Amino acid sequence: MPRRFALITGASSGIGAATAHRLAQDGYDVWLTFAHDEAGATTTAKHCAAAGAATRVSRLDLRDTASVDALVAEVTAAWGRLDVLVNNGGVCPYRALDDIELDEWDQVMETNARGTFVLSRAALPLLRAGREDAEHADPAATDRAIVNVASIAGQQGALRTGVHYAASKGAMLAITRSFARILAGERIRVNAVTPGPVTSNITDQLDDAGRAALTSSIPLGDFGAPEDVAWVIASLADPRAAFVTGATYDVNGGVRID
Ligand SMILES: NC(=O)c1ccc[n+]([C@@H]2O[C@H](COP(=O)([O-])OP(=O)(O)OC[C@H]3O[C@@H](n4cnc5c(N)ncnc54)[C@H](OP(=O)(O)O)[C@@H]3O)[C@@H](O)[C@H]2O)c1
Repeated sequence: MPRRFALITGASSGIGAATAHRLAQDGYDVWLTFAHDEAGATTTAKHCAAAGAATRVSRLDLRDTASVDALVAEVTAAWGRLDVLVNNGGVCPYRALDDIELDEWDQVMETNARGTFVLSRAALPLLRAGREDAEHADPAATDRAIVNVASIAGQQGALRTGVHYAASKGAMLAITRSFARILAGERIRVNAVTPGPVTSNITDQLDDAGRAALTSSIPLGDFGAPEDVAWVIASLADPRAAFVTGATYDVNGGVRID
């Protein structure tokens, strides 16, 4: 299989770090981003390098279009193409309905929803690049994929997380389906995962009562691990998922989504 290149946002911890490591183990070179936690991203990079991946790390603030453009310029200069983009970086304030300030609403929407749109669109030239000379019989040389890390909150609505978070993740699902339809003719596949509760910095904010209530709602009986989500993301990114686009994959321990 030819060398493949993946960009994973929010790879300093949690699901993003596990996804970067999974993709590195699968033979990708990986570009990791962090927003604040450079040490975490450096640790992820070490694990990826130990798995044999050429690894790069950049700071990215998804709310800032200049930061997105700078990242895309860096990737263009270094790699000139991308096979996989994982839109994972995001924020999740736990906020009661009456306490949501509009500034925080904007921050959440700008990071999770607008950031996914802005980076995906800016990365399109990289996803389109490098296929002209590729052997069309080799899907690994021509398949391109975007995987968006949405959330069960975007399907069910918020209860403990904020309404702004649920709205941003619902928007990510609409962005996923729109990009999938628009880009299908170019064979750029776009899918989403919708994790339920997963052990990470985000769910570490829960108090004991919140954690117990959530746990009791999960048929499989416990929170997922970041690696559980990473495996599904890597499967959707894999060229063997060639007929999967516009899909939403639940990774939620069996919670039924109607
Ligand atoms: N854990 C769950 O139960 C769960 C469930 C459903 C969906 N998700 C989604 O999974 C994704 C990863 O979350 P996680 O659970 O792994 O939590 P996490 O460990 O807190 O990871 C969040 C990542 O997003 C990055 N980030 C934060 N603000 C950013 C910004 N403005 N620009 C770019 N990146 C930014 C963080 O970077 P820094 O650390 O450098 O700030 C970090 O790498 C999120 O999109 C989250 O909504 C999580």
